[in-house]
Amino acid sequence: MTTELQSELQKAVERRRNFAIISHPDAGKTTLTEKLLLYGGAIHEAGAVKARRAQRKATSDWMAMEQQRGISITSTVLQFEYQGCQINLLDTPGHQDFSEDTYRTLAAADNAVMLIDAAKGLEPQTRKLFEVCKMRGIPIFTFVNKLDRPGREPLELLDEIEQELGLQTYAVNWPIGMGDRFKGIFDRTQQQIHLFERSAHGSKEARNTVIDLGDSRIEQLLEQDLYYQLKNDLELLEGVGPELDLELVHQGKMTPVFFGSAMTNFGVELFLHYFLQYALKPGSHSSSVGEVAPTYPAFSGFVFKLQANMDPKHRDRVAFIRVCTGRFEKDMTVSHARTGKTVRLSRPQKLFAQERESIDVAYAGDVIGLNNPGVFAIGDTIYTGQKLEYEGIPYFSPELFAILRNPNPSKFKQFQKGVSELREEGAVQIMYSVDESKRDPILAAVGQLQFEVVQFRLQNEYGVETLLESLPYSVARWVEGGWEALDKVERLFNTTIVKDSMGRPVLLFRNEWNCHQLQEDHPELKLSAIAPVI
Ligand code: G4P
Repeated sequence: MTTELQSELQKAVERRRNFAIISHPDAGKTTLTEKLLLYGGAIHEAGAVKARRAQRKATSDWMAMEQQRGISITSTVLQFEYQGCQINLLDTPGHQDFSEDTYRTLAAADNAVMLIDAAKGLEPQTRKLFEVCKMRGIPIFTFVNKLDRPGREPLELLDEIEQELGLQTYAVNWPIGMGDRFKGIFDRTQQQIHLFERSAHGSKEARNTVIDLGDSRIEQLLEQDLYYQLKNDLELLEGVGPELDLELVHQGKMTPVFFGSAMTNFGVELFLHYFLQYALKPGSHSSSVGEVAPTYPAFSGFVFKLQANMDPKHRDRVAFIRVCTGRFEKDMTVSHARTGKTVRLSRPQKLFAQERESIDVAYAGDVIGLNNPGVFAIGDTIYTGQKLEYEGIPYFSPELFAILRNPNPSKFKQFQKGVSELREEGAVQIMYSVDESKRDPILAAVGQLQFEVVQFRLQNEYGVETLLESLPYSVARWVEGGWEALDKVERLFNTTIVKDSMGRPVLLFRNEWNCHQLQEDHPELKLSAIAPVI
């Protein structure tokens, strides 16, 4: 490799930080995203992301559905510069009925920011998404939001994270007061207090008044009880709290915690500043030829998401690729590991919200959107040079199941085609009864919205109206060792056996309890919540 290319790749990796935000709806993800972009100069006035969302024209029927419901189904990538770094924020669908896309996006992220509402603490969706991050062992940064409102005690929140998620916490900064009495945050590294001042509607960058802990004005500025409370809390943190250990952070075992108020734009800049210092840069990925470093000279990446019909005029499909190594160049020709085909990557796109902008080069840690001529499936590797293949992206345990029926036999072909294409695209998982006479597909999803998208798209793109019949299951487990392992066990109780789209056995349960019971009765059966990688 030329030293020139080597140093170009090295520089690109040093500069890049990539992350996704994990949160429960309403914790303030949209607001925080906007404020981050504001600092990055990607937008000039907060409100732009929401406004853009609202103003967006119905560019496709599918998007019309997003609009009708005022939600964002699609995830995109937001790219901005700050303090000499290039930050890639992998945006995930914000709606409550989140889908597998959210999980898959985490497979492309190097870091996660766990956003928590100070009044609510950990919530169900945060926990689920945390589990996916934990499985991948990625660093988690915590931002406790809405300090301008009454909330729970900060120490109690740290305790909850430690107890429930098993993560050590290190408070990078500490709040002074809360709600009406929110006075600011204390930066433990610099030993400085950042005083809270509400900016006009939080729409511009907040004015930041900083004073040292030893400043004589401090007792005037903070009410006395808050000042003493701060001193006590700090003593406690210094006394019994752990030191910041970046190695543990990078292993996903310790989370740096930040406090702030995204809406009033307070604490966001401090967060960003330290995040850039502590976050993982794009790293190595395991592949069929071992670990490959991001500075490996040949280009490679994997598909983590497919999206159809972003532009109805072209009925196009976009494949989102996480770049893992080398330098991506427009119009380059790559090999497709699964099929061995050669593909020319024309019309690469960088995505900012719904606007697509053409890109010429990209490096490890970046995400590119490529027109998908029907070649790409989720988890596929593309590469130049020596053949390599990344591990792929697992199926995640669905929680909702329903039989999809086609009441109109004359539409049989379209129905089959639609179901199969939507499955390939990863819109939903498909399972089948083991009883050959029951041929209607079982849709299996992580969120209700996935069902609606499937039905909506079958009607709009394939002209098939369908009926959905809910099934009473909420847990799915794959069987290690497949049918062979299953054949060895006696009768199984309180479970239904189905097969996934690859013909592998899956056990469906009504609830966790039944699943647990079966495991106790049959310890020899190894069950997994995640499908073996395809
Ligand atoms: P989400 O994407 O995570 O679902 O949350 P979003 O940013 O839309 O925020 C949810 C609600 O919480 C919004 O209020 C938002 O203004 C509010 N919020 C976000 N951050 C803060 C904060 O730091 N402090 C306070 N007090 N509120 C915050 P809304 O009334 O639902 O919407 P809107 O009328 O503000 O648009």
